[in-house]
Amino acid sequence: MQYRFDYEYFQKSADYIRSKVSRLPKTALILGSSLGPLAKTIKDPVVIDYKDIPNFLLSTVKSHAGKMIFGEIEGHYVLCMSGRFHSYEGYDFEQLVIPIRVMKLLGIERVILTNASGGVNKDYNVGDIMIIKDHIKLNGSSPLRGPNVEEFGPRFFDVTYMYTPALRQVARECGEGSGLTIQEGVYMFMPGPQFETPAEIRAIRTLGGDAVGMSTVTEALTAAHCGMDVLGLAVITNMAAGVLDRALTTEEVTDAANLVAERFSGYVAEIIKRIDK
Ligand code: HPA
Repeated sequence: MQYRFDYEYFQKSADYIRSKVSRLPKTALILGSSLGPLAKTIKDPVVIDYKDIPNFLLSTVKSHAGKMIFGEIEGHYVLCMSGRFHSYEGYDFEQLVIPIRVMKLLGIERVILTNASGGVNKDYNVGDIMIIKDHIKLNGSSPLRGPNVEEFGPRFFDVTYMYTPALRQVARECGEGSGLTIQEGVYMFMPGPQFETPAEIRAIRTLGGDAVGMSTVTEALTAAHCGMDVLGLAVITNMAAGVLDRALTTEEVTDAANLVAERFSGYVAEIIKRIDK
């Protein structure tokens, strides 16, 4: 079978990016919905528009800038994706491997995945940060479906420690003095774009989910496949549907993200300082 996404496919994107920057980092950061303000803290940025990268994808969501930024956070040179891709935009799960595989070809060794999510665990509050210790994905296929690209990793692979324990440890330690409440829990992927129903949220809670969102897991799985370390940080921007007796709005997601933006930026910068060796 002729595979749409063979090794050369990703090399084309990576070659273009390499031609635009003079240095390549080891740490990458993907910013979730409404977490774009963190990108403003990047010093001496070199910005590449997704639309200019061959074989890349486009951000179609308003709260996602659609830019790849190379620059320094607290003196550490990083790659930052301001805006990510989701299956609800119409992308196939198989297409969602693209950003992480391109990063791998650029020499990225670890990735910090951030997202906005709904709090399912009733002990959580809006503004809390949940370090992702594991995930549940029952919707849709794996991003690794299709012919395996051996250059990236094996056909079958283990995901027991996908959310790298050592990075989670650093994230817990950096929580102290951050002014943020740090939780650690299970992220449940839901495909969206609608928020969940109250019945779905009750089911997710029964299944062991602590937070719910529409992203992150495809990136984590792709990173695990190609041997990258992963840290997932979910910003609880709202209590999930039915936890409170009222409807959810996108405004509350944005408002909550804005409220923690400065502390969250500081927290992520502190983590980068500690893990980017
Ligand atoms: N559900 C799914 N995705 C989300 C939510 C939510 O409640 N909040 C922010 N992203």
